[in-house]
Amino acid sequence: MTLAVDRERLTGELDALGAISQEPAPVVTRVVFTEADLRGREFVKMLCHDTGLEVREDAGGNTFARWNGEDSTLAPVGTGSHIDAIPNAGRFDGTVGVLGGLEAIRALMRANCRPRRPIELLIFTAEEPTRFGIGCLGSRLLSGLLDPAIAAQFRDREGISLDEARSAAGFNGPLSEVRLPEGYYSAFVEMHIEQGPILDRSNIPLGVVTAIAAPASFRIAIEGEGGHAGAVLMPDRHDAFLAAAEIALAVEATAKSSGSRDTVATTGVCDVFPGAVNSIPNRVRMEIDVRDIDQARRDIVLQQIERAVSEIAGRRGVQAKLEIVNADPPAQCAPHVVDTLAKSCETHGLRFERMISRAYHDSLFLSRIAPTAMLFIPCRGGVSHRPDEYATPESIANGTLVLAEALARLAAE
Ligand code: HGY
Ligand code: MN
Ligand code: MN
Repeated sequence: MTLAVDRERLTGELDALGAISQEPAPVVTRVVFTEADLRGREFVKMLCHDTGLEVREDAGGNTFARWNGEDSTLAPVGTGSHIDAIPNAGRFDGTVGVLGGLEAIRALMRANCRPRRPIELLIFTAEEPTRFGIGCLGSRLLSGLLDPAIAAQFRDREGISLDEARSAAGFNGPLSEVRLPEGYYSAFVEMHIEQGPILDRSNIPLGVVTAIAAPASFRIAIEGEGGHAGAVLMPDRHDAFLAAAEIALAVEATAKSSGSRDTVATTGVCDVFPGAVNSIPNRVRMEIDVRDIDQARRDIVLQQIERAVSEIAGRRGVQAKLEIVNADPPAQCAPHVVDTLAKSCETHGLRFERMISRAYHDSLFLSRIAPTAMLFIPCRGGVSHRPDEYATPESIANGTLVLAEALARLAAE
Protein backbone atom coordinates (compact mmCIF):
# COMPACT_ATOMS: atom_id res chain seq x y z
CA MET A 1 0.00 0.00 0.00
CA THR A 2 1.55 3.30 -1.07
CA LEU A 3 0.36 5.99 1.29
CA ALA A 4 0.68 9.66 0.38
CA VAL A 5 -0.61 12.73 2.21
CA ASP A 6 -2.02 15.67 0.26
CA ARG A 7 -0.05 18.27 2.23
CA GLU A 8 -1.29 21.33 0.33
CA ARG A 9 -4.94 20.34 0.68
CA LEU A 10 -4.56 19.60 4.41
CA THR A 11 -2.69 22.80 5.26
CA GLY A 12 -5.21 24.75 3.17
CA GLU A 13 -8.06 23.25 5.18
CA LEU A 14 -6.29 24.01 8.46
CA ASP A 15 -5.83 27.63 7.36
CA ALA A 16 -9.48 27.86 6.27
CA LEU A 17 -10.68 26.47 9.62
CA GLY A 18 -8.27 28.82 11.42
CA ALA A 19 -9.97 31.77 9.71
CA ILE A 20 -13.32 30.76 11.26
CA SER A 21 -12.92 32.66 14.49
CA GLN A 22 -14.55 35.21 16.80
CA GLU A 23 -11.43 37.33 16.33
CA PRO A 24 -9.56 38.53 13.21
CA ALA A 25 -6.69 36.29 11.99
CA PRO A 26 -4.17 35.19 13.18
CA VAL A 27 -6.07 35.03 16.47
CA VAL A 28 -8.30 31.97 16.79
CA THR A 29 -11.13 32.07 19.31
CA ARG A 30 -13.86 29.48 18.80
CA VAL A 31 -15.75 28.88 22.01
CA VAL A 32 -18.20 25.99 22.09
CA PHE A 33 -21.68 26.63 20.63
CA THR A 34 -20.83 30.17 19.56
CA GLU A 35 -21.57 31.23 15.99
CA ALA A 36 -17.90 30.69 15.04
CA ASP A 37 -17.93 27.20 16.55
CA LEU A 38 -21.05 26.31 14.57
CA ARG A 39 -19.47 27.60 11.36
CA GLY A 40 -16.38 25.57 12.11
CA ARG A 41 -18.50 22.48 12.64
CA GLU A 42 -20.32 23.02 9.33
CA PHE A 43 -17.00 23.38 7.52
CA VAL A 44 -15.64 20.10 8.93
CA LYS A 45 -18.89 18.22 8.34
CA MET A 46 -18.89 19.41 4.72
CA LEU A 47 -15.38 17.99 4.25
CA CYS A 48 -16.52 14.70 5.83
CA HIS A 49 -19.57 14.53 3.56
CA ASP A 50 -17.35 15.29 0.53
CA THR A 51 -15.17 12.34 1.59
CA GLY A 52 -18.21 10.06 1.57
CA LEU A 53 -18.28 9.47 5.32
CA GLU A 54 -21.50 8.81 7.27
CA VAL A 55 -21.89 11.81 9.57
CA ARG A 56 -23.96 11.96 12.76
CA GLU A 57 -24.06 14.17 15.86
CA ASP A 58 -25.07 13.28 19.40
CA ALA A 59 -27.09 15.32 21.90
CA GLY A 60 -23.95 16.88 23.33
CA GLY A 61 -22.63 18.04 19.95
CA ASN A 62 -19.99 15.33 19.49
CA THR A 63 -19.68 14.65 15.74
CA PHE A 64 -18.96 11.20 14.26
CA ALA A 65 -17.89 10.61 10.64
CA ARG A 66 -17.61 6.94 9.74
CA TRP A 67 -15.92 5.09 6.86
CA ASN A 68 -17.46 1.64 6.81
CA GLY A 69 -14.99 -1.17 6.34
CA GLU A 70 -15.54 -4.63 4.94
CA ASP A 71 -17.45 -5.69 8.03
CA SER A 72 -19.50 -2.75 9.27
CA THR A 73 -20.71 -4.77 12.24
CA LEU A 74 -17.25 -4.70 13.82
CA ALA A 75 -16.27 -2.10 16.42
CA PRO A 76 -14.58 0.77 14.57
CA VAL A 77 -11.12 2.17 15.08
CA GLY A 78 -11.52 5.79 16.19
CA THR A 79 -9.42 8.88 15.64
CA GLY A 80 -10.08 12.59 16.14
CA SER A 81 -9.76 15.56 18.46
CA HIS A 82 -11.50 18.93 18.95
CA ILE A 83 -12.04 22.18 17.02
CA ASP A 84 -13.14 24.50 19.82
CA ALA A 85 -10.45 26.99 20.79
CA ILE A 86 -9.84 29.13 23.87
CA PRO A 87 -9.69 32.92 23.51
CA ASN A 88 -6.55 34.25 21.81
CA ALA A 89 -5.48 30.80 20.63
CA GLY A 90 -3.76 29.38 17.55
CA ARG A 91 -5.02 27.39 14.58
CA PHE A 92 -3.46 23.95 15.25
CA ASP A 93 -4.59 22.92 18.76
CA GLY A 94 -7.10 20.13 18.19
CA THR A 95 -7.66 20.84 14.50
CA VAL A 96 -4.54 18.91 13.47
CA GLY A 97 -6.12 15.78 14.94
CA VAL A 98 -9.45 16.42 13.24
CA LEU A 99 -8.37 17.49 9.74
CA GLY A 100 -5.26 15.31 9.90
CA GLY A 101 -7.49 12.38 10.84
CA LEU A 102 -9.73 13.15 7.86
CA GLU A 103 -6.76 13.36 5.50
CA ALA A 104 -5.43 10.06 6.92
CA ILE A 105 -8.74 8.45 5.93
CA ARG A 106 -8.59 10.06 2.47
CA ALA A 107 -5.00 8.83 2.03
CA LEU A 108 -6.14 5.28 2.84
CA MET A 109 -9.00 5.62 0.35
CA ARG A 110 -6.59 6.85 -2.35
CA ALA A 111 -4.34 3.86 -1.59
CA ASN A 112 -7.33 1.54 -2.17
CA CYS A 113 -7.10 0.30 1.39
CA ARG A 114 -10.16 -1.81 2.34
CA PRO A 115 -10.15 -1.77 6.13
CA ARG A 116 -11.70 -4.81 7.81
CA ARG A 117 -13.14 -2.56 10.54
CA PRO A 118 -14.86 0.79 10.08
CA ILE A 119 -12.69 3.82 10.80
CA GLU A 120 -14.48 6.67 12.55
CA LEU A 121 -13.43 10.30 12.89
CA LEU A 122 -14.71 11.83 16.14
CA ILE A 123 -14.84 15.59 16.70
CA PHE A 124 -15.29 16.07 20.44
CA THR A 125 -17.47 18.90 21.65
CA ALA A 126 -16.18 21.39 24.25
CA GLU A 127 -12.67 20.09 24.89
CA GLU A 128 -11.71 23.49 26.25
CA PRO A 129 -12.97 24.61 29.70
CA THR A 130 -13.54 28.22 28.53
CA ARG A 131 -17.33 28.35 28.51
CA PHE A 132 -18.51 25.84 31.13
CA GLY A 133 -15.43 25.76 33.36
CA ILE A 134 -14.54 22.09 32.84
CA GLY A 135 -12.41 20.64 30.06
CA CYS A 136 -13.27 17.60 27.94
CA LEU A 137 -17.02 17.97 28.49
CA GLY A 138 -17.82 15.86 25.40
CA SER A 139 -15.40 13.04 26.12
CA ARG A 140 -16.39 12.96 29.81
CA LEU A 141 -19.98 12.36 28.74
CA LEU A 142 -18.98 9.85 26.04
CA SER A 143 -16.96 7.83 28.56
CA GLY A 144 -19.67 7.97 31.24
CA LEU A 145 -17.42 9.84 33.68
CA LEU A 146 -19.72 12.84 34.02
CA ASP A 147 -23.31 12.66 35.25
CA PRO A 148 -25.47 14.07 32.40
CA ALA A 149 -27.91 15.62 34.88
CA ILE A 150 -25.07 17.57 36.51
CA ALA A 151 -23.56 18.53 33.17
CA ALA A 152 -26.88 19.82 31.87
CA GLN A 153 -26.90 22.46 34.59
CA PHE A 154 -23.33 23.74 34.09
CA ARG A 155 -23.62 27.47 33.45
CA ASP A 156 -21.40 29.95 31.62
CA ARG A 157 -20.61 33.45 32.91
CA GLU A 158 -23.84 34.80 31.47
CA GLY A 159 -25.77 32.16 33.41
CA ILE A 160 -26.68 30.17 30.28
CA SER A 161 -26.83 26.43 31.05
CA LEU A 162 -25.25 23.74 28.91
CA ASP A 163 -28.75 22.51 28.09
CA GLU A 164 -29.84 25.97 26.94
CA ALA A 165 -26.64 26.54 24.93
CA ARG A 166 -26.67 23.17 23.18
CA SER A 167 -30.36 23.39 22.42
CA ALA A 168 -29.91 26.89 20.90
CA ALA A 169 -27.15 25.35 18.77
CA GLY A 170 -29.54 22.66 17.57
CA PHE A 171 -28.38 19.77 19.76
CA ASN A 172 -31.41 18.32 21.50
CA GLY A 173 -32.22 14.95 22.98
CA PRO A 174 -31.18 13.64 26.38
CA LEU A 175 -27.52 13.95 27.34
CA SER A 176 -27.91 10.51 28.95
CA GLU A 177 -27.79 9.04 25.42
CA VAL A 178 -24.30 10.44 24.77
CA ARG A 179 -22.47 7.74 26.73
CA LEU A 180 -20.79 5.17 24.46
CA PRO A 181 -21.00 1.49 25.38
CA GLU A 182 -17.81 -0.21 26.56
CA GLY A 183 -16.01 -1.59 23.53
CA TYR A 184 -17.59 0.90 21.15
CA TYR A 185 -14.12 1.49 19.68
CA SER A 186 -11.61 -1.34 19.19
CA ALA A 187 -8.87 1.30 19.54
CA PHE A 188 -8.56 5.09 19.51
CA VAL A 189 -5.69 7.31 18.34
CA GLU A 190 -5.58 11.10 18.73
CA MET A 191 -3.04 13.17 16.84
CA HIS A 192 -2.22 16.54 18.42
CA ILE A 193 0.48 19.19 18.53
CA GLU A 194 2.74 18.58 21.53
CA GLN A 195 1.99 21.96 23.15
CA GLY A 196 5.45 21.72 24.69
CA PRO A 197 9.06 22.16 23.52
CA ILE A 198 10.52 18.63 23.68
CA LEU A 199 10.10 17.49 20.06
CA ASP A 200 10.88 20.90 18.58
CA ARG A 201 14.04 21.33 20.69
CA SER A 202 15.37 17.84 19.97
CA ASN A 203 14.33 18.02 16.32
CA ILE A 204 12.46 14.70 16.58
CA PRO A 205 9.63 14.44 14.06
CA LEU A 206 7.07 12.58 16.18
CA GLY A 207 6.08 11.75 19.75
CA VAL A 208 4.27 8.58 20.81
CA VAL A 209 2.40 9.34 24.01
CA THR A 210 2.55 6.70 26.75
CA ALA A 211 0.71 8.63 29.51
CA ILE A 212 -1.42 11.76 29.95
CA ALA A 213 -0.96 13.99 33.01
CA ALA A 214 -3.54 14.27 35.79
CA PRO A 215 -5.38 17.60 35.56
CA ALA A 216 -7.28 19.31 38.35
CA SER A 217 -9.00 22.68 38.49
CA PHE A 218 -10.91 24.60 41.12
CA ARG A 219 -12.72 27.86 41.68
CA ILE A 220 -12.33 30.21 44.63
CA ALA A 221 -14.96 32.82 45.49
CA ILE A 222 -13.55 35.49 47.81
CA GLU A 223 -15.86 37.88 49.71
CA GLY A 224 -14.15 40.85 51.35
CA GLU A 225 -15.37 44.30 52.32
CA GLY A 226 -15.71 46.95 49.67
CA GLY A 227 -15.53 50.66 50.29
CA HIS A 228 -14.23 54.02 49.23
CA ALA A 229 -10.60 53.87 48.07
CA GLY A 230 -9.89 57.23 49.70
CA ALA A 231 -11.87 57.05 52.89
CA VAL A 232 -11.09 53.59 54.31
CA LEU A 233 -7.76 53.51 56.17
CA MET A 234 -5.41 50.59 55.45
CA PRO A 235 -5.72 48.82 58.86
CA ASP A 236 -9.50 48.76 58.44
CA ARG A 237 -9.51 47.04 55.05
CA HIS A 238 -10.55 43.52 54.03
CA ASP A 239 -9.50 43.76 50.40
CA ALA A 240 -10.67 40.68 48.42
CA PHE A 241 -8.15 41.25 45.64
CA LEU A 242 -5.12 41.34 47.96
CA ALA A 243 -6.25 38.05 49.48
CA ALA A 244 -6.50 36.67 45.93
CA ALA A 245 -3.04 38.00 45.13
CA GLU A 246 -1.56 36.19 48.15
CA ILE A 247 -3.45 33.03 47.15
CA ALA A 248 -2.07 33.19 43.60
CA LEU A 249 1.45 33.47 44.97
CA ALA A 250 0.77 30.58 47.36
CA VAL A 251 -0.40 28.47 44.41
CA GLU A 252 2.87 29.18 42.60
CA ALA A 253 5.00 28.52 45.71
CA THR A 254 3.21 25.24 46.43
CA ALA A 255 3.77 23.93 42.90
CA LYS A 256 7.42 24.97 42.93
CA SER A 257 8.06 23.23 46.27
CA SER A 258 6.37 19.91 45.38
CA GLY A 259 9.77 18.26 44.87
CA SER A 260 9.17 17.65 41.17
CA ARG A 261 9.36 19.79 38.04
CA ASP A 262 6.33 17.85 36.79
CA THR A 263 4.01 19.76 39.13
CA VAL A 264 2.53 22.84 37.46
CA ALA A 265 -0.11 25.29 38.68
CA THR A 266 -1.69 28.34 37.09
CA THR A 267 -4.12 31.01 38.23
CA GLY A 268 -5.68 31.65 34.86
CA VAL A 269 -8.80 33.57 35.87
CA CYS A 270 -9.04 36.40 38.41
CA ASP A 271 -12.16 38.57 38.11
CA VAL A 272 -12.17 41.56 40.45
CA PHE A 273 -15.47 43.19 41.48
CA PRO A 274 -16.57 45.98 41.23
CA GLY A 275 -13.47 46.73 39.10
CA ALA A 276 -13.44 50.48 39.75
CA VAL A 277 -10.17 52.28 40.42
CA ASN A 278 -11.55 54.13 43.44
CA SER A 279 -13.41 51.20 45.01
CA ILE A 280 -11.85 48.55 47.26
CA PRO A 281 -12.41 45.10 45.68
CA ASN A 282 -15.05 43.29 47.71
CA ARG A 283 -15.38 40.17 45.53
CA VAL A 284 -12.95 38.12 43.48
CA ARG A 285 -13.56 35.01 41.39
CA MET A 286 -10.49 32.85 40.70
CA GLU A 287 -10.00 29.72 38.59
CA ILE A 288 -6.87 27.66 39.22
CA ASP A 289 -5.37 24.76 37.25
CA VAL A 290 -3.03 22.22 38.92
CA ARG A 291 -1.43 19.27 37.11
CA ASP A 292 1.14 16.57 37.61
CA ILE A 293 1.96 13.24 36.06
CA ASP A 294 1.77 11.80 39.56
CA GLN A 295 -1.75 11.93 41.02
CA ALA A 296 -0.73 11.54 44.67
CA ARG A 297 1.75 14.42 44.41
CA ARG A 298 -0.86 16.58 42.70
CA ASP A 299 -3.40 15.84 45.42
CA ILE A 300 -0.90 16.82 48.13
CA VAL A 301 -0.46 20.14 46.33
CA LEU A 302 -4.24 20.60 46.24
CA GLN A 303 -4.46 20.02 50.01
CA GLN A 304 -1.61 22.44 50.67
CA ILE A 305 -3.34 25.09 48.56
CA GLU A 306 -6.61 24.56 50.45
CA ARG A 307 -4.75 25.09 53.75
CA ALA A 308 -3.06 28.22 52.40
CA VAL A 309 -6.40 29.63 51.26
CA SER A 310 -8.00 29.28 54.69
CA GLU A 311 -4.93 30.73 56.46
CA ILE A 312 -4.82 33.77 54.12
CA ALA A 313 -8.58 34.33 54.32
CA GLY A 314 -8.55 34.10 58.13
CA ARG A 315 -5.65 36.49 58.49
CA ARG A 316 -7.17 39.03 56.10
CA GLY A 317 -10.71 38.78 57.43
CA VAL A 318 -12.30 37.70 54.14
CA GLN A 319 -14.48 34.69 53.26
CA ALA A 320 -13.00 32.24 50.73
CA LYS A 321 -15.06 29.37 49.29
CA LEU A 322 -13.03 26.80 47.32
CA GLU A 323 -14.86 24.44 44.94
CA ILE A 324 -13.07 21.60 43.15
CA VAL A 325 -14.25 21.50 39.52
CA ASN A 326 -12.29 18.39 38.51
CA ALA A 327 -9.47 16.24 39.89
CA ASP A 328 -8.89 13.53 37.31
CA PRO A 329 -6.52 10.57 37.47
CA PRO A 330 -3.78 10.37 34.83
CA ALA A 331 -4.16 7.96 31.91
CA GLN A 332 -1.77 5.22 30.83
CA CYS A 333 -1.98 4.70 27.08
CA ALA A 334 -2.67 1.19 25.77
CA PRO A 335 0.65 -0.61 25.10
CA HIS A 336 -0.69 -2.27 21.96
CA VAL A 337 -1.77 1.05 20.43
CA VAL A 338 1.50 2.67 21.52
CA ASP A 339 3.44 -0.13 19.83
CA THR A 340 1.33 0.15 16.67
CA LEU A 341 2.17 3.84 16.48
CA ALA A 342 5.86 3.09 17.07
CA LYS A 343 5.87 0.46 14.30
CA SER A 344 4.04 2.88 11.99
CA CYS A 345 6.76 5.49 12.56
CA GLU A 346 9.43 2.90 11.80
CA THR A 347 7.62 1.77 8.64
CA HIS A 348 7.91 5.31 7.29
CA GLY A 349 11.45 5.85 8.56
CA LEU A 350 10.44 8.57 10.99
CA ARG A 351 12.24 8.97 14.32
CA PHE A 352 9.99 9.25 17.34
CA GLU A 353 10.18 9.66 21.10
CA ARG A 354 7.95 7.95 23.66
CA MET A 355 6.72 10.71 25.94
CA ILE A 356 4.19 11.96 28.45
CA SER A 357 1.50 14.51 27.60
CA ARG A 358 1.50 17.41 30.05
CA ALA A 359 -1.56 18.90 28.41
CA TYR A 360 -4.79 17.02 28.88
CA HIS A 361 -6.79 15.76 25.91
CA ASP A 362 -10.02 13.97 25.17
CA SER A 363 -7.92 10.80 24.98
CA LEU A 364 -7.55 11.09 28.76
CA PHE A 365 -11.22 10.09 29.00
CA LEU A 366 -11.50 7.90 25.89
CA SER A 367 -8.78 5.75 27.46
CA ARG A 368 -11.34 4.73 30.10
CA ILE A 369 -13.50 2.99 27.47
CA ALA A 370 -11.10 2.04 24.66
CA PRO A 371 -7.43 1.12 24.15
CA THR A 372 -6.07 4.59 23.41
CA ALA A 373 -2.82 6.36 22.55
CA MET A 374 -1.74 9.70 21.08
CA LEU A 375 0.61 10.85 18.36
CA PHE A 376 2.34 14.20 18.83
CA ILE A 377 3.80 16.48 16.20
CA PRO A 378 6.20 19.30 17.09
CA CYS A 379 4.98 22.87 17.47
CA ARG A 380 7.45 25.73 17.06
CA GLY A 381 9.11 26.63 20.37
CA GLY A 382 6.51 24.52 22.16
CA VAL A 383 4.17 27.49 21.89
CA SER A 384 0.43 26.82 22.13
CA HIS A 385 -2.75 28.57 23.28
CA ARG A 386 -1.35 31.66 21.51
CA PRO A 387 -1.94 33.07 17.99
CA ASP A 388 1.72 32.35 17.07
CA GLU A 389 1.19 28.61 17.64
CA TYR A 390 2.71 26.92 14.58
CA ALA A 391 3.31 23.44 13.12
CA THR A 392 5.13 23.05 9.78
CA PRO A 393 3.39 21.41 6.81
CA GLU A 394 6.11 18.76 6.93
CA SER A 395 5.38 17.92 10.60
CA ILE A 396 1.67 17.79 9.92
CA ALA A 397 2.21 15.55 6.89
CA ASN A 398 4.55 13.23 8.84
CA GLY A 399 1.98 12.84 11.59
CA THR A 400 -0.85 12.26 9.16
CA LEU A 401 1.14 9.63 7.26
CA VAL A 402 1.92 7.69 10.44
CA LEU A 403 -1.64 8.09 11.66
CA ALA A 404 -2.94 6.62 8.38
CA GLU A 405 -0.53 3.69 8.70
CA ALA A 406 -1.58 3.06 12.30
CA LEU A 407 -5.29 3.26 11.47
CA ALA A 408 -4.81 0.77 8.64
CA ARG A 409 -3.00 -1.65 10.98
CA LEU A 410 -5.58 -1.33 13.75
CA ALA A 411 -8.50 -1.62 11.33
CA ALA A 412 -7.05 -4.83 9.89
CA GLU A 413 -7.15 -6.56 13.31
O1 HGY B 1 -5.57 22.66 28.88
C1 HGY B 1 -5.23 21.68 28.21
O2 HGY B 1 -4.36 20.91 28.56
C2 HGY B 1 -5.89 21.44 26.90
O3 HGY B 1 -5.19 22.16 25.92
N1 HGY B 1 -7.27 21.84 26.92
MN1 MN C 1 -6.12 23.53 24.18
MN1 MN D 1 -6.17 20.47 22.43
